[in-house]
Amino acid sequence: MYRTHTCGELRLSDQGKKVTLAGWVQKSRKLGGMTFIDLRDRYGITQLVVDAAAPAELVETATSLGREFVIQVTGTVVERQSKNSKMPTGDIEVSIESINILNKSVTPPFTIEEESDGGEDIRAKYRYLDLRRPPLQRALALRHRLAQEVRTYLDGQGFMEIETPYLIKSTPEGARDFVVPSRMNPGQFYALPQSPQTFKQLLMVAGYDRYFQIVRCFRDEDLRADRQPEFTQIDCEMSFVEQEDVLNMFEGMMRSMFKNALGVDIPDPLPRMSWYDAMDYYGSDKPDVRFGMKIHEITDKVQGHGFSVFDSVEYVGAIAAPGCAGYTRKELDALTEWVKRPQVGAKGLVYIKCNEDGTFKSSVDKFYSPEELAGIASAVEAKAGDLVLVLCGPKRKTQTMLGVLRIEMGGRLGYRDPKVFAPLWIVDFPLLEWSEEDGRFYAMHHPFTAPKPEHEKWFYSDKKEDLERVCANAYDFVLNGTELGGGSIRIHNADMQSRMFEVLGIGKEEAEYKFGFIINAFKFGAPPHGGLAFGFDRVCALFGGQETIRDYIAFPKNNQGRDVMIDSPSLIDDTQLEELQIKTCVKE
Ligand code: AMO
Repeated sequence: MYRTHTCGELRLSDQGKKVTLAGWVQKSRKLGGMTFIDLRDRYGITQLVVDAAAPAELVETATSLGREFVIQVTGTVVERQSKNSKMPTGDIEVSIESINILNKSVTPPFTIEEESDGGEDIRAKYRYLDLRRPPLQRALALRHRLAQEVRTYLDGQGFMEIETPYLIKSTPEGARDFVVPSRMNPGQFYALPQSPQTFKQLLMVAGYDRYFQIVRCFRDEDLRADRQPEFTQIDCEMSFVEQEDVLNMFEGMMRSMFKNALGVDIPDPLPRMSWYDAMDYYGSDKPDVRFGMKIHEITDKVQGHGFSVFDSVEYVGAIAAPGCAGYTRKELDALTEWVKRPQVGAKGLVYIKCNEDGTFKSSVDKFYSPEELAGIASAVEAKAGDLVLVLCGPKRKTQTMLGVLRIEMGGRLGYRDPKVFAPLWIVDFPLLEWSEEDGRFYAMHHPFTAPKPEHEKWFYSDKKEDLERVCANAYDFVLNGTELGGGSIRIHNADMQSRMFEVLGIGKEEAEYKFGFIINAFKFGAPPHGGLAFGFDRVCALFGGQETIRDYIAFPKNNQGRDVMIDSPSLIDDTQLEELQIKTCVKE
C-alpha cells in the first residue's frame, strides 16, 4: 500500500498513529537541527518533521529533498508545538522514521503554492505544474461537483444523456466554424459543432422527449475572459413544453446547483425582465442586477435648451453614481477619456455634480438653470452627493454605452461583489435583428427559434417594421452581468422553418443544401419542443467567484487560441497534406 492516508486527512484525533503518506515536497526548511517538510497532494498539505536526533542517513535524505520530489514517508502523528489554525492539518505533524524517494524533480519554473511567483505565460506552458496548485485544484473540484449536480438533477427529472457527433456540418450559432478535412472525401470538410442544436432537435423528432448532454462546443471567434474556442455546454431539450415549463425546469436545476454546491438559496421564483427593459434600464441584455444605478432617459428634459449636442440626437440618457459628486476635475477628465475609448465609443461625457449642500455643478451650466439641473437629477433619481453622468446619440447604442459605464462605476463603487449572486431570466427577445451594414435580418438567437404565436402575423409579413416587432419565446439565464445560458421554443414545422430561412435571406437552394435534413425531419411528425444550453465553464467560474473561465478548464487555450503547452495549432507535414489533398498558401 503506497499510503494509509492522504495529505489532507490527519487530525489531532490521529495522534500516536503510525502512518504512511505519499505526495510532493512543496518546500523543506531547517530549523534548529530539525527538518520540516510540507508534503502536498490534492487533498491538502501535511507537515513532516525529521528530528535532529534521527539517524544521520534519514536527516541527510530529508535535507537532500528538492521541491516537487515525489516521496513516500512513514512516521507517527504527533501534536504540533506551534499550531497553524489556517491549515486543516495544522494541529499535527508527522514525525518521520523513513523516507522513500519515489521520483526526483528538476527545479520547477515557478513556485507551486497557493500564490505562485510565475507569470501567466510560463504557467500556461507548464500547465500540469500549475494544476498542482490548490486554487486550480479547487476550481476543477468545483467543476466536477457541479457536473455531478447537473447529472443527478436531470436524471431525476427523466432526462437522458445522449452523445451527438463532433464531425458534422455547419451549425449556425453565429460564429465561424472550425473545419476538419476528410481524407476519404477529398476536398470536403466536416465542421465541428458550435453546439448540438440541430441534433438535439432531431432527438426530439425521434421521440426522446428529454435530452441532455455535457458537451464540448467549438467556435472560431475572438476570445475574451469568458470565451474559449472550445468550451462546454450543459445542453438540454424537451418535447411538449411551453416556455414556462423550460424556465421552471432549469430554474430548478440552477437552484439545486447553488444550494448543493455553494449552500446559497436563490430567489424562488427567479426574477424575470423583458429584453426591452434590460436594454432601456441597464443598457445590456445581460444586466448585472446586484446594484441599481439604472439608466434613465432624459431626452425630453434636456432638448430645446440651446445645447446643440443634445438637440441633434435621438436619445439622451443618464445614470447617477452614488457618492461621486466629489470627483475632481482630473478624475472627470479621466472618466471622459475612458468613455471615449473605442471599447466604449462615446463622443463625450456630460456630468452634473449634485453637491451635498444642494447646489449643482455641471459641464453644461451655460444651458441649464439650477432648477433644470435639479429636475434632471431627480429624473435620474440622483441624491445629494451623487454624480450624474450623461451620454447621448442613437438610442440603443447610447444605452449600451451607458450600460458599460454603469458596470465600470458599479465596479469602482464595490457593488460587484463576486460572493453576491443575482440571477434572473431575460425574456421576450426580438426574434430578428436588422443589420444596417449587411442590409438584412439576422436571427437574434438562432434560426430555429420560433416566433411567439401571437406575433406570427408579422412574421409572415414582408414589411421590415412588422418583422422587427416579432418577439420570440426566447430566454437567457443571466448571473451578475454574464449570460450563463440561453434557449428558446423552437420551430417544429417545415413551412415555418423555410419561412425563417427566407426572412434571413437564405435562398431555397442554400437552405436545402445546409439544412435540408432538419426541414425534412420536420415533415415526419416533429413534436413541439424547446430547450436551452448553459455555458458550463461560465457557470463554474461564476460559482467560484471569478469572471475568467480559463482556470476552470484543465487545459485551456490562450487569447490567441493557442495551447502553448503542446504548441498547437502547428504545421502538419507534407505527407499528411498530400493525403488530404490539401495545399496551403500561407505566405512566410
Ligand atoms: P448560445 O450560443 O447562447 O446558445 O450558447 C449557450 C451558452 O454557451 C456559452 N458560450 C460560451 N462559453 C465559453 N466560450 C464561448 N466561446 C461561448 N459561447 C457561448 C454562454 C452561452 O449562454 N444552441 C443554443 C442553445 C439553445 O438554443 O438551446 C446555443 O448554443 O454561456
